[in-house]
Amino acid sequence: MAKKQSIDPFMEKLVSLCKRRGFIFQSSEIYGGLGSCWDYGPLGVELKNNVKRAWWEAMTHRRDDIEGLDAAILMHPKVWEASGHIAGFTDPLVDCKQCKHRFRADTIETEKCPDCGGELTEPRMFNLMFKTFMGPVEEESAVIYMRPETAQGIYVNFHNVLQPSRQKVPFGIAQIGKAFRNEITPGNFIFRTREFEQMEMQYFVNPAEDQKWFDYWKEQRWNWYLELGIRPEKLRWHEHGKGELAHYAKAAYDIEYEFSFGWKEIEGIHNRTDFDLTRHAEHSGKDMRYFDQEKNEKYLPYIIETSAGADRGTLVILADAYFEEEVKGETRVALRLSPKIAPIKAAVFPLVKKDGMPEVATKIYQDLKKHFKVFYDDGGAVGRRYRRMDEAGTPFCLTVDGQTLEDDTVTVRDRDSMEQTRHKIGELVELIGGKVG
Ligand code: GAP
Repeated sequence: MAKKQSIDPFMEKLVSLCKRRGFIFQSSEIYGGLGSCWDYGPLGVELKNNVKRAWWEAMTHRRDDIEGLDAAILMHPKVWEASGHIAGFTDPLVDCKQCKHRFRADTIETEKCPDCGGELTEPRMFNLMFKTFMGPVEEESAVIYMRPETAQGIYVNFHNVLQPSRQKVPFGIAQIGKAFRNEITPGNFIFRTREFEQMEMQYFVNPAEDQKWFDYWKEQRWNWYLELGIRPEKLRWHEHGKGELAHYAKAAYDIEYEFSFGWKEIEGIHNRTDFDLTRHAEHSGKDMRYFDQEKNEKYLPYIIETSAGADRGTLVILADAYFEEEVKGETRVALRLSPKIAPIKAAVFPLVKKDGMPEVATKIYQDLKKHFKVFYDDGGAVGRRYRRMDEAGTPFCLTVDGQTLEDDTVTVRDRDSMEQTRHKIGELVELIGGKVG
């Protein structure tokens, strides 16, 4: 099931670290894997949750004008007629008659197969939506789709959210959830997969103010990546030209990140106009207009969409944090994750497993874990324990040693500088909590 994907040497190292440290594993690995599907292990799920939490807080908790939503993955099939996905969410495909490999016609430059030089078929359109059946009978009338974007769950709930929240335009609805696309050319680890999570926000605005809000959201979203510690020189804008624009968009800009495999889209900011609400009004027969009480008029708001991938965002964070250096003739590998999103905030070590050190270290661990995610490790030489935590991206390692038993201080080792300073046990919550919060 899993076609072997070729990846570059940097990505090979990253994938290997992710497996070794329990961030990300291939789905169904014991059966040979399932193409482009990945499972998040103990550290991966913490990291991705922290990315999602950072997004949710920035987009909802810290604002008054955006409400949250969690819509179902399965939606009425008419949604996808209205959205244009049944007619338009397609890629042109060609097959090699000789080696049977399949390609997206728009990504190959030759007329012969790039793999074996064989003859290619004429392009045919392939819809990217996964189909399944609702209920026990597998017939055409029971076909439903796995949503290819979370956005439509927001549009169909526009009035459901508007009424109880008593928001006024401009306001937004945010949602994090799974989306599915039967991608022809998935690959590069969790960059392009067939099952992935999106973090999408739809901002409803007066059509006369669309440009203002488009510019505003471009700036907000760019800054969000900087807040997560991404290096600014690794980010750039890409404006969609006429031929690239999705069927719903009047204008679109992607935030791109420079991966080892090139500059690639990590988030899209789109001006979707009133396309979606107009289409849902037409297909459902419901009035989707907004009533402006001050002006006593009804109109269809324009929508400015910010659409980010949680998995792709996690990959950006991992790739940007990966760091190697030579230390005493050995290669030290560390993930320089921002303490705010690091899966483990601090590790607690007894220097040795005797002289009462494990008891003190356990007590510190028990106290700290009430405040943030900590990890206790007494296995092997302390240098090895530091290295393991470097690879896990843990910003602080606290070691209980002989001096601790005399003056209630521990060493606090900084992941990036490797410097160690001594601090009172009673100050640790404040010292570390202030940096990871
Ligand atoms: N609602 C608009 C929309 O879905 P998109 O540009 O198709 O726009 C938005 O997707 C984001 O979703 C992308 O920037 C990317 O982060 C993520 N994404 C899309 N397809 C993906 C895939 N196959 N695997 C992982 N992430 C994907």
